Amino acid sequence: MKAIAVRPGIPDSAHLVEMPKPSVNDIDGGRGVLVKVLRVGVDGTDKEINNAEYGAPPPGDDLLVIGHEGFGIVEETGPNVWELKKGDLVVATVRRPGTSIYDVIGTNDMTTDDTYYERGINLRHGFLSEYYVDDADYIVKVPDGLREVGVLLEPMTVVQKGITQAYEIQRRLRVWRPRRAAVLGAGTIGLLATLVLRLRGIEVVTFGRTAKPYMNSDLVEAIGAAYVSTAETGVAAYAEANGAFDIIFEATGYSPIAFEAMEALAKNGVLVLSSVTGGDKRVEVPADKINLDLVLGNRVIVGTVNANREYFESGVKDMAHAVLEYGDWLSRLLTHPVKGLENVAELFEKLTTAKGAIKVFCEVSA
Ligand code: BGC
Ligand code: ZN
Repeated sequence: MKAIAVRPGIPDSAHLVEMPKPSVNDIDGGRGVLVKVLRVGVDGTDKEINNAEYGAPPPGDDLLVIGHEGFGIVEETGPNVWELKKGDLVVATVRRPGTSIYDVIGTNDMTTDDTYYERGINLRHGFLSEYYVDDADYIVKVPDGLREVGVLLEPMTVVQKGITQAYEIQRRLRVWRPRRAAVLGAGTIGLLATLVLRLRGIEVVTFGRTAKPYMNSDLVEAIGAAYVSTAETGVAAYAEANGAFDIIFEATGYSPIAFEAMEALAKNGVLVLSSVTGGDKRVEVPADKINLDLVLGNRVIVGTVNANREYFESGVKDMAHAVLEYGDWLSRLLTHPVKGLENVAELFEKLTTAKGAIKVFCEVSA
C-alpha cells in the first residue's frame, strides 16, 4: 500500500513510499481493527516534522509515516472486538501508553515518562497511508452524521482536553461561573476553542493577527464571538479597557503572548497554554507585577498537550452539538483538500504557503 513518510533528521523529506498492508492479526488478543483511511488533516506539527525539527521513526526504522489527524472506515475487526464493526467511521487516538501510572490508567496524555509514543509524530507510524491497524482500545467511533467533518476530531480533542482541564482545576472554587473568555489565535485550534466555549454559553473574544474582515474573523462572528486583531489591540490592553477574562485559551504558537495573557486574567481566572513552541525565543516581562497579580488573585496557569480517549468521545458530542447549533460551520474550516497520497508535494505546499488556509487535508480515499 501507499503511504507518506519522512526521513526524520532530513529536512523536506516527505515522499510517497510503498509498504506492506497491515493486518488485524498484527495486534495481540484478537483486538485488531483494520481501518481504511478516508482523510488525514495536517498541521504545524507535520510542518515541523518535515522541517526535521521534531519527530522520530519507530525503533529500527529510518522512515516515519506521518499524519496524526486520521479519519477512516473500519474494514475488518479481530475476533475479540465487539464495539466496532465493518463500515463504522472511526478516528484513532494519537498517543500510545508508556509506563507511568497515568499511562496505566489510560491517561497517556498525562504521561510522566520522558519518552512518549505518538502515531505519526514520535516512534510510531501515523495515518497518512491507505490503511492502518490498531487496538480497538484506541479507536473511537464517529457517527455517520459527522462524516463530512470527522477529520476535525483530533484537533478538536486538543481543545476538549484544555477546556475540560480548566473546569477540573476550577472545582477548587466550589463554584465557578466563567462569563468571559479570550481565545488567542484564530487558526484551527483557536476557532475550535471559540466554538467549544460558545457551546458552553460563554462570551468569547478571539484574538488573531490579521485585520478583519477575513474568513477566520467571519467564522468567529458567525457563532456570536467577537474578533479582535492584535495588530490593533493586544490582549492585555483589551482586558484593561474592557474587563479581564475568566478563562483564556492560548493557541497562537507564539510563546511571548503567554506572558501578556497572564496580565489579562481575571481574579480566580485560568490560563490554558496549548502551543508547542520548539524555538528559543526570550522576552523581558514585568515579573513582580505578573507574580503579584497571580498570587493576590488566586490565578492559575496550566499547560495541556495531546488528548486521551475521553476527549475524543466528548469531542464527538461537541461536534454533533455544533452541527445542530451552527449548521455547516465546522465544514467551513475544511478549506484545502488535496486529492490522493501521491500529491504529497501539493499537500506540503498548501500547508506552508496557501493563503487563507484553515485546515489542509489529504483525501486519501473517497
Ligand atoms: C498533536 C498532539 C500531540 C502534540 C505533540 C500535536 O500536533 O495534535 O496529539 O500530542 O502535537 O506532539
Ligand atoms: Zn496536531
